Amino acid sequence: MRVPAKVNLQLSVGPPRRDGFHELVTVFHAVSLYDEVTVTPADRGRVTVTGEGSGSMPGDDDNLAMRAAAALAKAAGLPPRRGPRVVPDDSADGNGRPGVAIEIRKRIPVAAGLAGGSADAAAALVACNELWQAGLSQQELAEVAAGIGSDVAFALFGGTSVGQGRGERLTPALVTGQYHWVLAFSAGELLTPEVYRTCDRIRESRGVTAAPPRPSAELLAALRSGDPAEVGPLLSNELQPAAVSMRPELRRTLAVGREYGALGAIVSGSGPTCAFLAVDAQRAVDLVIALTGAGVCRSATRVVGPAQGAMVVSPSEVGR
Ligand code: C5P
Repeated sequence: MRVPAKVNLQLSVGPPRRDGFHELVTVFHAVSLYDEVTVTPADRGRVTVTGEGSGSMPGDDDNLAMRAAAALAKAAGLPPRRGPRVVPDDSADGNGRPGVAIEIRKRIPVAAGLAGGSADAAAALVACNELWQAGLSQQELAEVAAGIGSDVAFALFGGTSVGQGRGERLTPALVTGQYHWVLAFSAGELLTPEVYRTCDRIRESRGVTAAPPRPSAELLAALRSGDPAEVGPLLSNELQPAAVSMRPELRRTLAVGREYGALGAIVSGSGPTCAFLAVDAQRAVDLVIALTGAGVCRSATRVVGPAQGAMVVSPSEVGR
């Protein structure tokens, strides 16, 4: 399976809800930076992670991908098993759940605001649905996904979508053309719950009450037009002040990107990755060089969006 990272083109955050989550309106946009996830039958649940930032990923049962596999088994009613053809006898753990070995090759950095963990969970859902021939529809998978994390359902579909509620209620957005982005990775990580808490604290200290979030009609119209010069100035992220207050060096990263011609410069999700919208592919290459040359990020890479969601790829395509 291949599954994309996301950036948020709009992220409007309402006040905290009783359940601790925040009511959101966001525009998710999948980009061509992918993790690869492989599942194979095993006698117990096991997760192996290699690649970008793999050292800080939770193992086995705490891993979001394994939680996704367990949630799918439950939603699909496994057990009871649907016969040895579907789940071989030798692939069940001590609880009678179908066992699975999940191998994740990471390119999406961990805790970077790119929903890498959610992407892995989405890939595990689709892959286990195939492996166990569980037969859940895309819509049923999306419902299971929503129970795992706010961004998991989007990673199933990819493309560009408006997310509401916690972010899990999705409506596809019409987008013309392809957008060229540069992602600037930071040396550190940011924990999403802490960024939301900081956002609440900043608002409280300024006496600001968050308005109910609404989709930006201007941004959605600009995305339909297909003109990146219209889209760039309309990018917005209400978590950005919190992320920048926690990592002040991001201010400079964003400024350097703007200085070198980015049409828009934002922190991606809860950060600390910064996303820059470029005029075209060549200007994106120039931006990568400028950002890395200025020493304002750990590394930078060029991606395009919108990218497809979780997708089965043949072994020959793996690693491309
Ligand atoms: O849903 P997910 O596990 O990705 O969320 C991680 C954390 O981000 C939540 O525990 C919560 O602290 C915060 N969050 C939030 N409101 C949202 C989405 C996430 O407060 N809509």
